[in-house]
Amino acid sequence: MRPKFITFEGIEGSGKSTQVKKLHAFFLEKNIDAILTREPGGTFAGEKIREILIDEKIEKLEAKTELFLNFAARLEHVEKLIKPSLAQGKTVISDRFFDSTFAYQGNAFGLDETLIEDVKKMAISDFAPDITFLIDVPVEAAFARIQTRADNNRYEKLGFDFHQKVRDGFLQLAKKNPRIKVIDGTKNQQEVFAEIISYF
Ligand SMILES: Nc1ncnc2c1ncn2[C@@H]1O[C@H](COP(=O)(O)OP(=O)(O)O)[C@@H](O)[C@H]1O
Ligand SMILES: [Mg+2]
Repeated sequence: MRPKFITFEGIEGSGKSTQVKKLHAFFLEKNIDAILTREPGGTFAGEKIREILIDEKIEKLEAKTELFLNFAARLEHVEKLIKPSLAQGKTVISDRFFDSTFAYQGNAFGLDETLIEDVKKMAISDFAPDITFLIDVPVEAAFARIQTRADNNRYEKLGFDFHQKVRDGFLQLAKKNPRIKVIDGTKNQQEVFAEIISYF
């Protein structure tokens, strides 16, 4: 069966937004009804929460605050957009989902994995993507790509070591979870895309 709920993960600059757009266009061309969404965000309230999470004027939030805000936005996203869309037979593509919380708030900010699991269970129970593409690139390469980006957010200012921990966190998740497919994001955009669509 064709996977219905598809998520993309990876550090900033790995190529997620590029690839989600390509995949969305690919489905529409094939007359497959699909929507493209993102996290944090995806709903009106979720986008408001996103604004808090990426606000450069906020120097630091407690890691647990970030955890709760992310899962509050995610709960709205799952109940108000993702599940209803799937119920209507749509394919849903999300630019980030809960693996990001394990990589950022878990591996990089040091929150306990079991704590994140508990909050996840409370918020969305056992709801999960059918397939997840982890676009993996070395931090140096990703940084070089986003240097000129105008809308750098709070996380992009956190430096090399932080993003290295995020990358390692994602790779550790992929190792223990067959749902997550690691894609070599250092290849050109067409090659990366070809590898992604080989799963459909
Ligand atoms: N495979 C690739 N090779 C080189 N540059 C890429 C590739 N994919 C995306 N880019 C460029 O890198 C930058 C970051 O890509 P983007 O898709 O916005 O990443 P993300 O959403 O993961 O932060 C953009 O300027 C994009 O054009
Ligand atoms: Mg992006």
